[in-house]
Amino acid sequence: MAKVFVSGTLPGDGVAALRASHDVVQAEEGVRSAAFEACRADVEAVVALLTDRIDAAFLEASPRLRIVANVAVGVDNVDLAACRARGVIVTNTPDVLTEATADLAFGLLLAAARRIAEGDRLVRAGGFTGWTPTFMLGTRVHGTTLGVVGMGRIGQAVARRARGFGMNVLYTQRSRLDEAAERSAAATYVTLDELVARADFVSLHCPLTAATTHLFDAERLARMKPGSVLVNTARGPIIDEAALAWALEHGPLAAAGLDVFEREPVVHPSLLTRPNAVLAPHIGSADRPTREAMARRAIDNVLEVLAGRPALSAVAPAPLSPVTA
Ligand code: DGY
Repeated sequence: MAKVFVSGTLPGDGVAALRASHDVVQAEEGVRSAAFEACRADVEAVVALLTDRIDAAFLEASPRLRIVANVAVGVDNVDLAACRARGVIVTNTPDVLTEATADLAFGLLLAAARRIAEGDRLVRAGGFTGWTPTFMLGTRVHGTTLGVVGMGRIGQAVARRARGFGMNVLYTQRSRLDEAAERSAAATYVTLDELVARADFVSLHCPLTAATTHLFDAERLARMKPGSVLVNTARGPIIDEAALAWALEHGPLAAAGLDVFEREPVVHPSLLTRPNAVLAPHIGSADRPTREAMARRAIDNVLEVLAGRPALSAVAPAPLSPVTA
């Protein structure tokens, strides 16, 4: 029976399954809690949230740790190199959240383009005084061009939805898809510069790394197509939020749909006052079955590793390669 720390409350029956065979400590406040401090010397597995920072100092102080099972597909909260150096396995939760996240990305795209959230606020404030031909005109979606940055599982799922709207799909990422995958995605590979110049909608699905931090800075935002819409369900720091607020006010962007922010849960004050920014509280994967499946996958990873078997979805100590959502 191993000591396992579970960060936060998880949906579904996974924690009960873990308790059946291991000594589980669970704390709402995560790995910075007194509960974790009290057991960290003995902990062999941590079920971590994306809000937990797992760095070298953390690993140093948890000498028996064998696995960090992140309840997320993104692992930017984990120092993978430090885990590799200590032989600690890191797992994530791919696949189970692909469709839910793509649903939300497309929802934000539609809401931002067609001013749905803005319209909702207006109706509630008593501002709907009747239909007129020029009232709340928005951006056309069907038949336009979508640019996907990061054509992993989620990017491809967004591209599938876009095809249902008759959209032409461009994509960019570090390495081009093979011919068959490209054909099935019905997407055209372009450089990032070409994508931002041509796309009416840009949806971000790349992992957060040193190379993608502020990938959308003031300069790149300025090169986006006039009247275009930017959607981010990946990670906040991929966009410079202050620069985005400026581009939403002065152009070239017509609107943005954001589920993630640079310094969550804080949102840049200038974004909060932009009517053309649709803001969601990091709920990309938050439909109930998806969150239950994510929790279960993380716990199954722990159960496998503690039983001496390979993890179901390990991102470390596999060779260094970009994690594609
Ligand atoms: C992830 O999995 O990385 C999301 O941000 C949370 O669903």
